[in-house]
Amino acid sequence: MLARSDNVAAPLRSAARIAAIGVSEILDIGARAAAMRKDGHHVIVLAAGEPDFDTPDTVKEAAWKAMQRGETKYTALDGSPAMKEAIREKFRRDNGLDFAGSEISVASGAKQVIYNAFMATLDPGDEVIVPTPYWTSYADIIRIAGGVPVLVACDATNGFRLTAQQLHQAITPATRWLMLNSPSNPTGATYSEADYRPLLDVLLKHPHVWLLADDIYEHIVYDDFRFVTPAALEPALRDRILTVNGVSKAYAMSWRIGYGAGPMALIKAMAVVQSQSTSNPSSVSQAAAIEALTGPQDYLAERRDSFRIRRDLVVDGLNAIDGIDCSRPEGAFYTFASCAGILGRMTPQGRKIETDRDFCAYLLEETKVAVVPGSAFGASPFFRISYATTQDELREAMARIAAACDALVA
Ligand SMILES: Cc1ncc(COP(=O)(O)O)c(C=O)c1O
Repeated sequence: MLARSDNVAAPLRSAARIAAIGVSEILDIGARAAAMRKDGHHVIVLAAGEPDFDTPDTVKEAAWKAMQRGETKYTALDGSPAMKEAIREKFRRDNGLDFAGSEISVASGAKQVIYNAFMATLDPGDEVIVPTPYWTSYADIIRIAGGVPVLVACDATNGFRLTAQQLHQAITPATRWLMLNSPSNPTGATYSEADYRPLLDVLLKHPHVWLLADDIYEHIVYDDFRFVTPAALEPALRDRILTVNGVSKAYAMSWRIGYGAGPMALIKAMAVVQSQSTSNPSSVSQAAAIEALTGPQDYLAERRDSFRIRRDLVVDGLNAIDGIDCSRPEGAFYTFASCAGILGRMTPQGRKIETDRDFCAYLLEETKVAVVPGSAFGASPFFRISYATTQDELREAMARIAAACDALVA
């Protein structure tokens, strides 16, 4: 028998597939902000990827009624028939797209839909083109699935959009997917029909490349921008597009429901992945999401207006600061401003601001405003602000950032 002291646990040997995946910088910033709050500081956190609105009452009631009806059991693996019917209705109403139930997959969030798609289709060495700045989960999911994210830097002067020439140059025989996200997290950048067209024309010439369109911010668009989705624009590509969406953002329902629509063979392969991970998404969340997608939609416009006012408050506030330059995004609830003009300046504590990370650390330490450096999204020197918080908090944050920038010595 081993003595207790001999029975020492071997150190954890983690799998190679997660070796290249770091802990999210956003979580790190959130943890630092939480620690400051605990110490009694009034920290303004502008890092959340989630609307500050509450889930609509009609949606909450639908969840309650579903539980009373006994809808508390497992459902069909990739979405109940009623959930898929509601999603079909949504696609017809909002996008002019007609999908069969067998072309729809429902998962525990849009993130899981993307995970299922890449796990179901990528073999080691397969490439996925990811325009940057990007939602970092894309690259990490691709890596976990054994694929290779091919990051293509998109210029601020082109509204952070991928150009046809960049796409053309990035495609190799190993390319399996192009990943697009409009409106974008982190930039708020959008693709109009005219922006999509040249990219779709490139894809038409490369039949081995599929397109994953992440439309999760579809309903959060401003001014005259008209949301469009690639599957509706190019019927010839329909057999190789996965359109991903969900209820977390528009309906303030981070109750873990996302969905994808695409070719049946892909949907079936994705179901295999889901069957051996989470199985069906929550029955109660599905019942609530049916109400969100098919019930009254009028609050979407009200919330959009509220977000637009906050976007303008932040963009105008940032542009009034010497050294910061912020474009006015047409969608999502983020600004992605350049802090190039701040670099090289000295803090009152005598530290030189050399990177966007230094700038964000300065803002957090000295002004107690938490924002995320562009480097966390693959683009420097920028910083992302999420304006999904109250106007009062945003005004206070702008005043603190302005004062902190004023205190820097050129
Ligand atoms: C671009 C983008 N896609 C997908 C998601 C995931 O959404 P869900 O909550 O449905 O998993 C997010 C959430 O932050 C996002 O920003």
